[in-house]
Amino acid sequence: MIQILDNALTSLQAGVCALELYGEDHPFVKKQFSTSAELLADILARAGEVRVGLLDDRVMLSDEAMPSSAELERTLFTWLRNHEVDGIVLRAGVTEKELRDFAAFLSSREEQPLFKSRHISLAVIACGQPDTSDRRFEDVELAHVGAKHMPGLHSLWDRMLQGQESDDAHLMGIAADLAHAATESRSAMLPLASLKRHDEYTFVHTINVAMLASALAEAVGVSGQTLHDITTAALMHDIGKQLIPQGMLNKAGKLTKEEFRLVQSHPSLGANLLLARKDLPDIATIVTYEHHMQLAGGGYPVLSRPRKIHFASQIVQVADIFDALRTDRPYRAAMTRNEALEVMSRSAGPSFDPALFDVFIDRVVGRTEENTVEPADEPQLVAV
Ligand SMILES: [Fe+2]
Ligand SMILES: [Fe+2]
Repeated sequence: MIQILDNALTSLQAGVCALELYGEDHPFVKKQFSTSAELLADILARAGEVRVGLLDDRVMLSDEAMPSSAELERTLFTWLRNHEVDGIVLRAGVTEKELRDFAAFLSSREEQPLFKSRHISLAVIACGQPDTSDRRFEDVELAHVGAKHMPGLHSLWDRMLQGQESDDAHLMGIAADLAHAATESRSAMLPLASLKRHDEYTFVHTINVAMLASALAEAVGVSGQTLHDITTAALMHDIGKQLIPQGMLNKAGKLTKEEFRLVQSHPSLGANLLLARKDLPDIATIVTYEHHMQLAGGGYPVLSRPRKIHFASQIVQVADIFDALRTDRPYRAAMTRNEALEVMSRSAGPSFDPALFDVFIDRVVGRTEENTVEPADEPQLVAV
């Protein structure tokens, strides 16, 4: 029973995470809530009622830790603690509508009365609440998918930058895992795309781009080792930024000419770093070098002769621009999904392949009537 309950709660939190980006009518969001409701109906028909609560940072059902305790603690239960409760009581009869209402309560950033419905109530169940005063909703979303790889990626990058032997197999393991997550459940990674953490920007951005690129690659028919290689390349695409002073990358005001030149050197700095790696796929170096080059010429690094941009670089570039536009930066606010797609639609053609962008809208970020992107009359380049 505990595994079914675990699946029901992780589906619920996936639904909450995706709600903000996709809206309640998106098939992925609907699927999460219907799956959760079905699983809960199964358990509650037998048990009548279940109480899940925190005990010393572990999410418990009676005296047993939930299989996904760590993930639930960082996500669903942090949302609950933000409302000063640490437990959920679920009773037989819980409906999908109640779960949706509960999700809306969890994802709301506004002050509101504690949620209560006929079959769901929230309570202080266990003791040992950690201090969550400095945790924000955005931090919690980070925990959803891919976030588990952040520490591993941090230390791999650190080692790589210090010129130490790093475990490339570990890196490719992370890429394989992200690619798997993206192909198993294409939409599951998108909650990460709404993250707005400045301090972790490059890492969060890296993981977002890896998952978006992986989903786009899969959507255009890439599979197996090539899919993993493109995901690895996406994980590495901004590695060169680690050699640029943080203050410059996050500068709110205008960059000086010299600063601009330095920031624009991150693709070649990154490619140089990767050339020294023994086990990384060549595609990682190519993508890192090309990810700011535009299809019709332009972008950077500036070359003296035209270069045909590798298909993998084009895939990563679409993911890269979308995530950059969707994220709050010190110099501009994050755009909504529709705004980002609209801005990108004006650049399709000179900047990147319009057909690839169409697949990205249709198969990766989803096309609903309300977010259908009208083709723009005038092409306009995107500054990221
Ligand atoms: Fe970049
Ligand atoms: Fe990037």
